[in-house]
Amino acid sequence: FSAFLTDSFGRRHNYLRISLTEKCNLRCQYCMPEEGVKLTPRGQLLSTSEVLTLARLFVREGVDKIRLTGGEPLIRPDVLDIIAELKKLEGLKTVAVTTNGMNLSKLLPKLREAGLDLINISLDSLVSAKFEFIVRRKGFHKVMESIDKAVELGYNPVKINCVVMRGLNEDELLDFVQFTEKKPVEVRFIEYMPFDGNKWNFKKMVSYQEMLDQIRQQWPNLERLEAGPADTAKTFKVPGFKGQMGFITSMSDHFCGSCNRLRITADGNLKVCLFGNSEVSLRDVLRSGASDEELLQIIGAAVGRKKKQHAGMFSISQMKNRPMILIDMSGVCR
Ligand code: GTP
Ligand code: 5AD
Ligand code: SF4
Repeated sequence: FSAFLTDSFGRRHNYLRISLTEKCNLRCQYCMPEEGVKLTPRGQLLSTSEVLTLARLFVREGVDKIRLTGGEPLIRPDVLDIIAELKKLEGLKTVAVTTNGMNLSKLLPKLREAGLDLINISLDSLVSAKFEFIVRRKGFHKVMESIDKAVELGYNPVKINCVVMRGLNEDELLDFVQFTEKKPVEVRFIEYMPFDGNKWNFKKMVSYQEMLDQIRQQWPNLERLEAGPADTAKTFKVPGFKGQMGFITSMSDHFCGSCNRLRITADGNLKVCLFGNSEVSLRDVLRSGASDEELLQIIGAAVGRKKKQHAGMFSISQMKNRPMILIDMSGVCR
């Protein structure tokens, strides 16, 4: 495995998350400040060929999974071409996408044709009005339809990301678990994380332990499932249910020790940790005409500076980072 993608703690980074756009057709409260974000001018965003050049380089060095994120990745007009081109890279086993599901249903056949392997969909409420309050837009039925279609097309498991926030949707945990009875999906309950402009505070966060206690009261026979070595979620199942549930415990029990992720922001910065604010512009290096070797030196140095773990939830909540929409709207320090 490439020394450039191995950090000083021996973690091998074989999973790259690439943000394809800063734009989104929703305005989720936990992701975006209400007033929106200042968008990077178009010319400073990575072009399709720059995205593919970087992907090719990372895959050559050992990346075998790429997740496309955003903003909302499916609003990028060339998303299908990007997926199809990525699928040609030898050594890349998985191309995944994390989406809000708004445009997904109509794009699904083409996404599958392009070779998309995995889909994660955000859904924070099963109640239409509450969904629309959280995302500050309409569209609940479109997302539900996308989930069903993705399952019908054979995506397995379709993962559903539910950010749990006290006073907003923590009363729906049992309904979400019930949702997995008939549907072969994995609902992931995500601890609410602080990012710039999302008004996080400790009281709004519902911890893994609290969620698990609540669910166990209803289903005491919950079964713990095996996790892969770099999974973000701790997974469980109600015996007999078709689907399962996961908990992403970035705040109460981080999983930085097994982190295998790197991210590239839509404006071309390499971000070695979701919660780190040190970034290096690969776009500028690319545009200066640097060789692959020069790029790798810069990537390797950034990976080498990656910290052992994030700074803890209170420090994170005070540090300067980006709003989630400008990171990848779907990551963590794995
Ligand atoms: P899989 O590839 O299916 O494991 O997806 P994922 O969980 O890595 O990605 P997804 O985009 O579905 O994100 C789900 C949640 O995991 C989001 O809340 C992300 O913020 C969080 N997450 C993703 N990557 C990281 C990471 O590197 N560190 C931490 N702490 N959380 C992450
Ligand atoms: N805390 C936890 N998860 C978040 N996401 C976005 N913002 C946050 C946050 N503040 C999740 C969404 C999306 C994924 C990419 O990141 O659920 O599915
Ligand atoms: Fe858009 Fe995702 Fe952010 Fe919601 S969380 S505003 S869907 S990028």
